[in-house]
Amino acid sequence: MRAVQYTRYGRPEVLETVEVPRPAPGPGEALVRVAGTTFNPVDATVRAGYLTEVFPVDLPHVPGIDVSGTVVAVGEGVPVDLIGRGVVAFLPMTGPGASAEYATVPAELIAPAPTTIPLTDAAALASSGLTAWQAIVEEAGVHAGQRVLVNGAGGGVGSFSVQLAAAAGATVVATASARSRDAVAAHGASQVIDYTTTPVARAVTEPVDVVLNLVRTSPEETAALVSLVKPGGVFISTTTPGVEPAGADVRTVSLFVRSDAAQLARLAQLVDAGDLRVDVSARYPLEELATVHGLGEAGELRGKVVLSPTRAGGDQS
Ligand SMILES: NC(=O)c1ccc[n+]([C@@H]2O[C@H](COP(=O)([O-])OP(=O)(O)OC[C@H]3O[C@@H](n4cnc5c(N)ncnc54)[C@H](OP(=O)(O)O)[C@@H]3O)[C@@H](O)[C@H]2O)c1
Repeated sequence: MRAVQYTRYGRPEVLETVEVPRPAPGPGEALVRVAGTTFNPVDATVRAGYLTEVFPVDLPHVPGIDVSGTVVAVGEGVPVDLIGRGVVAFLPMTGPGASAEYATVPAELIAPAPTTIPLTDAAALASSGLTAWQAIVEEAGVHAGQRVLVNGAGGGVGSFSVQLAAAAGATVVATASARSRDAVAAHGASQVIDYTTTPVARAVTEPVDVVLNLVRTSPEETAALVSLVKPGGVFISTTTPGVEPAGADVRTVSLFVRSDAAQLARLAQLVDAGDLRVDVSARYPLEELATVHGLGEAGELRGKVVLSPTRAGGDQS
């Protein structure tokens, strides 16, 4: 099968398309014919070799932590009626990824793919949707009447976070640059602050119940974001950790997303109910993964970018 892998850490050019044997599903695993995988910022950080202690991958490594596709075989202990199903999963960070024609997936991580969007696009739901769910629903417990600030709403996690918070009945304030402004507003943000022209902390005039920070911030920027949280509220970060201000009743959380098939199934149901949109900004053939990594590192991607190993999967919109 075709796969994209790297045999040494380095720049995007280390990613090369190769022919490798098709894997066989081991006990507890399903073999998925890949329809889609994604680019996530962490893929580039792992590839560059900056996270060898946190995420020690074996080289050669096939990246791609999100997968959507069709189950074509199952290993011992996995129900055969999974074969033929359209599925989606957030794969283990250190195992072989989905930048290939086939991927083995632990069956316990598999959720049914949404049926109302292309199977390729469904990959975009997995790790980003789960991060948003675990921040907005699980950690913050956002509910009607609250104010939520999503800093970095133009990206993959941000688009789902804005939607989940708005659907819970919160008033959502979000940061985005001009290219993402309309999408973020359409996802339910009632105020969109252009972070390229306006310091966020200055533009937010009323305190908020929840800050979700999805951007790498300096200590000063982080403290300014924490200071926007009302007593009893929470600052959640997927990036720079917040420091709980002395004497203020504000919780700070550093979020590390985990794979959760039940939550992913719930997200897929929301998509099929028309209550959650998957903001795919571009689609690339798998062979262009190095180009996508380069664009991602240059800050030139917004929303979610999906890649497909199928020869017809090359339209870019
Ligand atoms: N800890 C975890 O478990 C976990 C899980 C998932 C993600 N993450 C991390 O969380 C961050 C967000 O992830 P993601 O997948 O959503 O990233 P992403 O899709 O790459 O986000 C890209 C977006 O970031 C926005 N952005 C860039 N600089 C900004 C700034 N200074 N202020 C506001 N927005 C800015 C841009 O928005 P515009 O288009 O509006 O310019 C761009 O669209 C990444 O650092 C990722 O590594 C961590």
